[in-house]
Amino acid sequence: MLEKNIDLSNKRILVTGAAGFIGSNLCMELIKRYKDCKILGIDNMNDYYDVGIKKDRLTHLVSDNFELIEGSIADKALITKIFDDFKPEVVVNLAAQAGVRYSIENPDAYIESNIIGFYNILEACRHSYDECGGADNGGCGCAGDSGDGQYKGVQHLVYASSSSVYGSNKKIPYSVEDKVDNPVSLYAATKKSNELLAHSYSKLYGIPSTGLRFFTVYGPAGRPDMAYFGFTNKLVKGETIKIFNYGNCKRDFTFVDDIVEGVIGVMQKAPDENENGVKYKVYNIGNNDPVNLLDFVDILQQELIRAKVLPEDYDFEAHKELVPMQPGDVEITYADVTALQEDFGFKPDTPLRDGLRKFAEWYKQYYG
Ligand SMILES: NC(=O)c1ccc[n+]([C@@H]2O[C@H](COP(=O)([O-])OP(=O)(O)OC[C@H]3O[C@@H](n4cnc5c(N)ncnc54)[C@H](O)[C@@H]3O)[C@@H](O)[C@H]2O)c1
Repeated sequence: MLEKNIDLSNKRILVTGAAGFIGSNLCMELIKRYKDCKILGIDNMNDYYDVGIKKDRLTHLVSDNFELIEGSIADKALITKIFDDFKPEVVVNLAAQAGVRYSIENPDAYIESNIIGFYNILEACRHSYDECGGADNGGCGCAGDSGDGQYKGVQHLVYASSSSVYGSNKKIPYSVEDKVDNPVSLYAATKKSNELLAHSYSKLYGIPSTGLRFFTVYGPAGRPDMAYFGFTNKLVKGETIKIFNYGNCKRDFTFVDDIVEGVIGVMQKAPDENENGVKYKVYNIGNNDPVNLLDFVDILQQELIRAKVLPEDYDFEAHKELVPMQPGDVEITYADVTALQEDFGFKPDTPLRDGLRKFAEWYKQYYG
């Protein structure tokens, strides 16, 4: 196990995408656990999916130590100002245009948020070392504990990557040691680019960075564009759900609380220099237990009936259609989480039924 080198209890933490599914859950947990830390969230509240859900998530973040700025990480002047004023010590970049299929429809959104936005975050991290004169000397190496009260820049940049970087890789489970040069969507390519950009900035300016490849995250107040949520909406309306690749897809569904636990663990350990002299790490965070889509849908349906979202006698078979694969999709995602376990002694372990039960109960309570 690695030893923690960042104490979050009194830190200034910047979370981008704070009104998002994972971001809001992360902020909620940070608020609960670390009463003395200061959390600044930024989110552009875009309408890629129902903004009402984003607003609702924010109602759970009302706290003295949380503030939200509505704006885009693609706005360089805003990001520079936020870093100058707030002086974050830990940065968690979750803001992104998510979704694989939408990147076919609206590629611009991916380049703007995932490439330009992430670049702005990296540049701001780089210049966070300016006051101690280090950034231009290839990293001053002082991105350590600012115990003397003086701001010494960003001590750790944690950012969301994705299981989609494994693209059409055949070898499973997916390991962080595997080559990831076969993206099959623009979304995947932007996430892989984030890892490459972070590596170069870690090397050039000494920014300690950790990329997290999340695997199909689900849970209460999740993303309506994701299959489990979309299926639920359709079933409620009596519409037919399309199960891609004739149901022969497997996903490593990961409950959002496990993701948050993983992110908080990782935030507390900025990577040491690796053999190439770079403070850089990448981890998978996934359930390590892929489930066939048909089995997933079956459990979802049972839990929707249990939560009274669907009636007892719902004719599920009549609302299910097996269809071919969609462009950009992959057949299986399966996380090898050995590195996460070895370094943090943690592995996601919420059983799918428990997680879907929480989603179904939330759905009933939210939509009535
Ligand atoms: N949920 C998953 O299954 C999953 C899987 C792999 C990776 N990820 C990654 O995890 C991160 C969080 O995902 P999520 O599921 O919470 O998605 P989300 O869409 O719910 O959250 C992202 C948030 O970022 C905001 N945002 C988008 N562009 C922005 C910009 N330019 N400036 C400021 N805010 C912006 C959105 O309004 C949204 O609230 C994303 O980077 C995503 O790519 C998610």
